[in-house]
Amino acid sequence: MRFQLVYIVFAVVAFFCTLIGFGHSRSLSQSPQTTILDVAALIQNTKTVLATTTFDQQKRSFSAKSPFTLQLHSRVSLQKPSHREYKSLTLARLERDSARVRSLTTRLDLALTGIVPSDLEPLDTSDGRGFETELMKGPVVSGTSQGSGEYFSRVGIGEPPSPVYMVLDTGSDVSWQQCAPCADCYQQADPIFEPAASSSYSPLSCETRQCKSLEVSECRNGTCLYEVSYGDGSYTVGDFVTETITLGSASVNNVAIGCGHNNEGLFIGAAGLLGLGGGSLSFPSQLNASSFSYCLVDRDSDSASTLEFHSTLPRNAITAPLRRNPQLDTFYYLGMTGISVGGELLSIPESIFQIDDSGNSGIIIDSGTAVTRLQTDAYISVRDAFVKRTRNLPSAEGVALFDTCYNLSSRTSVVVPTVTFHFPDGKELPLPAKNYLIPVDSNGTFCLAFASTPSSLSIIGNVQQQGTRVSFDLANSLIGFSPNGC
Ligand SMILES: *[C@@H]1O[C@H](CO)[C@@H](O)[C@H](O)[C@H]1NC(C)=O
Ligand SMILES: *[C@@H]1O[C@H](CO)[C@@H](O)[C@H](O)[C@H]1NC(C)=O
Ligand SMILES: *[C@@H]1O[C@H](CO)[C@@H](O)[C@H](O)[C@H]1NC(C)=O
Ligand SMILES: *[C@@H]1O[C@H](CO)[C@@H](O)[C@H](O)[C@H]1NC(C)=O
Repeated sequence: MRFQLVYIVFAVVAFFCTLIGFGHSRSLSQSPQTTILDVAALIQNTKTVLATTTFDQQKRSFSAKSPFTLQLHSRVSLQKPSHREYKSLTLARLERDSARVRSLTTRLDLALTGIVPSDLEPLDTSDGRGFETELMKGPVVSGTSQGSGEYFSRVGIGEPPSPVYMVLDTGSDVSWQQCAPCADCYQQADPIFEPAASSSYSPLSCETRQCKSLEVSECRNGTCLYEVSYGDGSYTVGDFVTETITLGSASVNNVAIGCGHNNEGLFIGAAGLLGLGGGSLSFPSQLNASSFSYCLVDRDSDSASTLEFHSTLPRNAITAPLRRNPQLDTFYYLGMTGISVGGELLSIPESIFQIDDSGNSGIIIDSGTAVTRLQTDAYISVRDAFVKRTRNLPSAEGVALFDTCYNLSSRTSVVVPTVTFHFPDGKELPLPAKNYLIPVDSNGTFCLAFASTPSSLSIIGNVQQQGTRVSFDLANSLIGFSPNGC
């Protein structure tokens, strides 16, 4: 009897404790409220990345042996950073990143206003040079441009296949590579492609579906010319052709790609670009891929991961709806519902994450943007919640677009509030600490790697995706995240 009474009292007390506990946390987030940042290891990394040897020759061959699987490399494994200090490497990256975001928002603005770039920059076919256009006489490309594209894969083009590095880009559709003869080609790691040396090279006529799907095209002598400009001063112009593309041990015939004879700007190192967007000309679309996935290795790592087509969604994937903008089929929008910091679900209006009737707002996931951009109010919520929970850490001055930085030079590790993305049906993706508190120099300055954008378009960047396999299940309109998936 007495035993039972004690038991009941105990149970009632436990019940009230639980209630109070729930009352405190204010949100039902199951994610851990804090997470550990290994400061010492990250600082060490900033030193070794500058000392990495250039170009591992081994990586120049096809190393992925499975069909439809490509090795994926970070920029530093392709090209040794020319910077002496990690800080200047960071600043160069952030400058590139701002150009990237400008080019994505410009692309959307053009689509929403219904202005096709060709209305602005008509191809001038009257002169004999062949591939001169008005565009090329337009904005001068800054000499300080460091090149766009943060992740690369090696694919084979033509028959026999020429192995080349291609920038991976979920923010555009048309794939292209530099081709001889060059009116203007930038430097690339591999020899420039020679159409005459490939038996599978075949120009597309102007009447083809592929040519008609181009946003900017021109007909010359019955064959199709393409032009793609990236809004940051870089562009490519040339013949639109079909070619055989080799992915690991698989080959796909008749893939429409650009053979660029006039290429300006920002693709230093890579031979061209693999368009992974959602439009009809994109590489996954032409492959009729039901899905594809990538795992972005650490930006400072020269280890490799994979880009896979036709891969199934991993079992452990945390899934969110994949949404499309009726005004622009290129971008992959993420069905997101909120963000929590340290277990507190922030009061960010859900409308920020939803595409509105005019095609504005919403949040896309992008392989080429580094730092996640949020609409200003949402960014301020995240930042303020983070600052409130890190008052114990010594702060430091802002760096470039980062306004929330810390001097962790005297620490080996710190406990920081967890930043978690929330998706419908109670799904949650807690981010590893190194995916949002990143070193900006080798002296122990770390910054919160989120930023605000004046545009209504928010973007999940690749810093936040690192180490996570991101699966685009196109058939079922899902995006999956598998932590520790590289
Ligand atoms: C069009 O084709 C003719 C004959 O094949 C060739 O002589 C001419 O140079 C071509 N024009 C252009 C602009 O390529
Ligand atoms: C993709 O589907 C289209 C239309 O059904 C077909 O013409 C094309 O050959 C397919 N491509 C591949 C690589 O399977
Ligand atoms: C960071 O803190 C250390 C002491 O912990 C100090 O010596 C150093 O000057 C600080 N760095 C900056 C940039 O303030
Ligand atoms: C980092 O420390 C080095 C010396 O170790 C110093 O020369 C440099 O100015 C410091 N950089 C910053 C951004 O504080």
